[in-house]
Amino acid sequence: MKSRIPLFLLAAALAATNVYAQGPIVIKFSHVVADDTPKGKAANRFKELAEKATAGRVKVEVYPNSVLYKDKEELEALQLGAVQMLAPSLAKFGPFGIKEFELFDLPYIFPNREALYRVTQGPVGRELFKKLEAKGITGLAYWDNGFKVMSANRPLRMPADFQGARMRIQPSKVLDAQMRTLGAIPQAMAFSEVYQALQAGVVDGTENPPSNLYTQKMYEVQKHVTVSNHGYLGYAVIVNRKFWDGLPGDIRAALDAAMKEATRYANTIAQQENDAALDAVRRSGKSVVYVLSEREAAAWREALLPVQRDLETRIGKELISSVNKEVAHGQR
Ligand code: LMR
Repeated sequence: MKSRIPLFLLAAALAATNVYAQGPIVIKFSHVVADDTPKGKAANRFKELAEKATAGRVKVEVYPNSVLYKDKEELEALQLGAVQMLAPSLAKFGPFGIKEFELFDLPYIFPNREALYRVTQGPVGRELFKKLEAKGITGLAYWDNGFKVMSANRPLRMPADFQGARMRIQPSKVLDAQMRTLGAIPQAMAFSEVYQALQAGVVDGTENPPSNLYTQKMYEVQKHVTVSNHGYLGYAVIVNRKFWDGLPGDIRAALDAAMKEATRYANTIAQQENDAALDAVRRSGKSVVYVLSEREAAAWREALLPVQRDLETRIGKELISSVNKEVAHGQR
């Protein structure tokens, strides 16, 4: 049977098997967003901390903005060992065969970051990481981006405004259901292609936290941005398991500590970065930024809450109920 692995990936993987031969251990950390986003900044901070802590025995090469691999390719590249570290958004694990991660895409599942942290830092977060092991991947940390805004070339104030709009989504069945529930036509697409697709009118709108909307200049080709906070976008920092397990123990411990510190940093700056990005979009005058009124927000909630029930079987009833328990715990 013919191999379906692209040649360029195989070549890169072969080159990567040589990492211990001489010189420092190289960690290629590939991601798809800009350097000046929560993820971009945290990746660079990890590099700094890791290199310092290992006194030159480890070199971290960060490749932002999909320069090395796009979303789908990067997961294949990690499994093959062509890169060692990634931080894909949690919405990207469904097509990879771990659909439970799509729980993070459910509209309104997390009322705030504290509730989210109880989930990612508790048993649910650990269980999800365990599912990665069978794929040759180890999960190291959860990094925040933030709550999403919707954008389009038309105002999006009430659910009915979505009727017939072609909306770019990440490749998650939950996001697909979310858009269909609103009457929109979802289109899954790699992050690196979104700006052009919006500009060319291949799609009418999209959703993302403000930091991505701003740094990819999507706001320049979207007339309207709605602050809706209808869903969350965050990341799993993951490594090639064989690579990670094969590291000398002292190096792995130093990298673990650097990751803990980088994670604290990521989760501290995410909200500020998104607030600053939204302000910058407002100031640009290119998009009208609209914050939903209470009545409108209630109408969105009412329209979108059924998505939780509709996708229950795909994600797992028990899993959703443990998430809901963790969330409710802090509200008592
Ligand atoms: C997207 O595809 O919209 C996001 O996952 C990009 C990212 O990594 O933040």
